[in-house]
Amino acid sequence: MTDHLIGLLLGAEDDWPRAYEALLRRLGAVTAPDGGKHRVRSVRVSIEPFDLRAKPQHELVIDRLAHWYYHPREWLKKIALMDDVYLLNSPFTFQSMEKHAAYCAMMRLGLKVPPTVLVPYKNPVENSRWAYTAARYNQPFDLDAVAETIGYPLYMKPYDGGAWVGVSKIRNREELHAAYDASGERLMHLQQSVEGFDVFARSLSIGPETMVMKFRPELPMHDRYAVDHSFLTPETGDEVVTISRLVNAFFRWEFNSCESLVRGTEVHPIDYANACPDVAVTSLHYYFPWAMAALLRWTVFCVVTGRRPRLDMDTARYFAIADDPQLSYAEKLAGYRRLADEYFEVDRYQEFCATALAHVDELVLEWVTSTEFDSLLKETVRATYPPHEHDRFLGHFGGLVDAWVRDQG
Ligand SMILES: Nc1ncnc2c1ncn2[C@@H]1O[C@H](COP(=O)(O)OP(=O)(O)O)[C@@H](O)[C@H]1O
Ligand SMILES: [Mg+2]
Repeated sequence: MTDHLIGLLLGAEDDWPRAYEALLRRLGAVTAPDGGKHRVRSVRVSIEPFDLRAKPQHELVIDRLAHWYYHPREWLKKIALMDDVYLLNSPFTFQSMEKHAAYCAMMRLGLKVPPTVLVPYKNPVENSRWAYTAARYNQPFDLDAVAETIGYPLYMKPYDGGAWVGVSKIRNREELHAAYDASGERLMHLQQSVEGFDVFARSLSIGPETMVMKFRPELPMHDRYAVDHSFLTPETGDEVVTISRLVNAFFRWEFNSCESLVRGTEVHPIDYANACPDVAVTSLHYYFPWAMAALLRWTVFCVVTGRRPRLDMDTARYFAIADDPQLSYAEKLAGYRRLADEYFEVDRYQEFCATALAHVDELVLEWVTSTEFDSLLKETVRATYPPHEHDRFLGHFGGLVDAWVRDQG
């Protein structure tokens, strides 16, 4: 029997970690393709001083914390570089997780990112060298002229943003100047608005599994993901999956969510760098069991088959496709899909799921219909909403999860 330990690096959440832990316990021993037996356990990672030469016990770490807590972030870099620990998102490209780097990569790869300009800081940067440097090198620029080349309406948003903070829709000069003045020391993109889009597609990817969901960002969190299985044509759905898998393979992200605006048959990516996305039951509801099953399958696949972490980005292979003038957009996408599928070992993974993990679907269904899941949902709702809303939200999420259970039949 070979034992494997998976670390969970967590912030405030408790629902999905409990779900993941419960499923891993129920999974039992796994038989690898070579007949060897494996047992996988998980442990929550604690934060403490670490010797840079100390050996971690974990073989793989699932991280939901390092995007804002830098001590464990530096620990992740250490264990990636020194100990070959498998991380779902490369901690190196994770630092280029600002939207900006993802836009640049996607533009080079020929995706339909709306025209985007990065403007200099509105306020002086707090640094004693700023005044001299600015006086010498900062070019005066005409913000109105920049906006006019992009065209109104446009979006002003932080180059490294998240959770809609600091994002504004700009319709005219007055709004442009007000938003820029308010941006202060935040670095801002101006981006052409995709007007009149038909649907907002948000896809959550875990390893080679992607769920493309209809997203309604204007609604409160519990209502944002609509349960709708045919809101995109099969071709467009496949394009969204390819783009998601491409961005993930390119940056070595295996747990990420991507946003695209779909207008007619055109897919415009607008926000593709949300590594370590929210997977709470109170946001994903109907899709929560899928997400937990995918997280279980992919992490177990990685440790049991000894998949090696790959920190190098191999950009030249992607750019060779991007830069080939003979290839159409569709041909480029097909080429990227081959590279991404190869990176994610899609065939080997599917084979493993069909054999070593054949019982996972049933196991997840059993767990979702158990009293253990019931308590998890109740406690999560109690911890998330004020008392007078408990019944309403228990009904809401309970109903959506029941719908998932019925759909498995
Ligand atoms: N180019 C755009 N065209 C149309 N809507 C946009 C565009 N950029 C952003 N938005 C709207 O603003 C929201 C927030 O922008 P986004 O880039 O996703 O930032 P965040 O990282 O904060 O989620 C999007 O969900 C979308 O509704
Ligand atoms: Mg977004």
